[in-house]
Amino acid sequence: MKVLIIGFGNMGQTYASSFTSSGFICSKDVIVLNRSEVEKKKRFSVEKSNFYTEPSKSIFDVDIIILAVKPQDFLTLASSIKPFVTKEHIILSVMAGISMQSIQDKFDVNKVVRSMPNIPTQIGQGMTVFCASSDIDRKDLFIVQNLINTTGKSIYVDKEEMINAATAISGSGPAYVYYFMNAMVESAIELGFSTSEAEFLVGQTFTGAVQLQNRSKESHQQWIDKVSSKGGTTEAALAIFNKYNLNDNISEALYAANQKAIELGV
Ligand SMILES: NC(=O)c1ccc[n+]([C@@H]2O[C@H](COP(=O)([O-])OP(=O)(O)OC[C@H]3O[C@@H](n4cnc5c(N)ncnc54)[C@H](OP(=O)(O)O)[C@@H]3O)[C@@H](O)[C@H]2O)c1
Repeated sequence: MKVLIIGFGNMGQTYASSFTSSGFICSKDVIVLNRSEVEKKKRFSVEKSNFYTEPSKSIFDVDIIILAVKPQDFLTLASSIKPFVTKEHIILSVMAGISMQSIQDKFDVNKVVRSMPNIPTQIGQGMTVFCASSDIDRKDLFIVQNLINTTGKSIYVDKEEMINAATAISGSGPAYVYYFMNAMVESAIELGFSTSEAEFLVGQTFTGAVQLQNRSKESHQQWIDKVSSKGGTTEAALAIFNKYNLNDNISEALYAANQKAIELGV
């Protein structure tokens, strides 16, 4: 199987290195089309001769085309590559906010997969939510999911609007985690820890808590109950979270992210 990755920024590079390092695709079968020349140090996962800055018929002799440009660059890209895209190609888009219908219309193609990855894909720990047009058969879908899974885990959704919801949860999610971690680091420093100690303490607390929960059958609430004993320290902290309705605030924030994803979509 051959893939053409269009756009060799964060996502394009992540995909190329995940495909090749997992052994799912050999480096000779990964072709890259990027607007500008790609720096040498970023070329490690793809063969030197497979980088292009101009579209041409020969580089489109692939099974899957991955669209990894910024959404605002999509229209310019679409007009430059349209003559080379055929109905046999499977198009996998990671572009936020560009609908499957827009992609189908722009290229006059049917087989489109739209995905929403998140930033831990860079280390093979990503979460990707994806949907597919009705012309993608089970075999194609299986191949695409295997490709995506080289960057972490994935779930398939039937309804395209769930991609907006995924953007609000897993797409933006790492930033929410860092926000909470940052607030805890600041508090730890105020309580007397050095910056490096505070970062270590908070980082390991998150890692440990997530891994523990992943290895158990207990729900988040059950783990909260286990940690907080009556009249204890955890309960004192949780009482403040509840006093300020943190739960509702989080829910409102994620709703806003979902609304924004809908608004930005085309
Ligand atoms: N980063 C993430 O964590 C993340 C998560 C979810 C979804 N996404 C989506 O992934 C897409 C890519 O994001 P990114 O962070 O990888 O962006 P990025 O780092 O800015 O990379 C975009 C790349 O596209 C290239 N490009 C632009 N127009 C082109 C054209 N006409 N032909 C060929 N290449 C072109 C750019 O080339 P130059 O080198 O010339 O600028 C650049 O290398 C976006 O649509 C974004 O919504 C990203």
